[in-house]
Amino acid sequence: MPRRIEVSKLCKSFTLHLQGGVTMPILSDLDMQVDAGECVVLHAPSGAGKSTLLRCLYANYRATSGSVKIRHDHTWVDLSSAAPQTVHAVRHASLGFVTQFLRVIPRIATLELVMEPLLARGMAREDARLQAEAMLVRLRIPMRLWHVPPATFSGGEQQRINIARTMICDYPILLLDEPTASLDEANRDCVIDMINAARERGAAVVGIFHDDHVRRALATRLFLIPSVQTISLVTTQ
Ligand SMILES: Nc1ncnc2c1ncn2[C@@H]1O[C@H](COP(=O)(O)OP(=O)(O)O)[C@@H](O)[C@H]1O
Ligand SMILES: [Mg+2]
Repeated sequence: MPRRIEVSKLCKSFTLHLQGGVTMPILSDLDMQVDAGECVVLHAPSGAGKSTLLRCLYANYRATSGSVKIRHDHTWVDLSSAAPQTVHAVRHASLGFVTQFLRVIPRIATLELVMEPLLARGMAREDARLQAEAMLVRLRIPMRLWHVPPATFSGGEQQRINIARTMICDYPILLLDEPTASLDEANRDCVIDMINAARERGAAVVGIFHDDHVRRALATRLFLIPSVQTISLVTTQ
């Protein structure tokens, strides 16, 4: 299977400006490769840098050093140094990211939010609407909520809208930060099926799942994030 993600010698540290510029190393010289058709589950204790690694893969966080290469449009793009327009293009076509938190434009109806990624890809409105409706049915979002903005939805409902907006597109790479954390069993199993189907059609998946059942149902392998041994707090002043 072709390679989709190639991380090498990734270092990420945070500089805490409010604490005298103390530098906190989180990821150090991390190498990781992910191929199409794999679901790699990040495995490490809380606070070890799992979400930080996913954010580096999405270029929410810039690497302190090293490279984060993503397969995009038949070429490799290093997100650690890519221009903002390139990052945007890579996210649009190649990277889907589901976090625990729904961040959408306020006051837009749920159905419209789920259609939006398809419309952005040039799909006709009617086709996009049918696909979005099917997705909402599958994720058990009651019809009475389709025309309401999700701001007042429960945590689990908002999470399912998040999943719907990403899984409605066939992204070649999926980054998932606890997408099932606040779901009941039936919805959790539905999302497991969606992620497995995406992987089987060739998506490269990197995820964080605390639920052991979810992990066993999805992981093709675990990736252990090595702990940064010496949390030496270096003052940069
Ligand atoms: N933007 C940030 N600024 C400063 N510290 C951060 C930032 N993001 C994460 N951290 C710190 O990095 C460490 C790893 O966080 P995170 O990647 O969220 O861990 P995990 O997902 O493995 O639980 C934590 O100590 C966290 O406080
Ligand atoms: Mg996390």
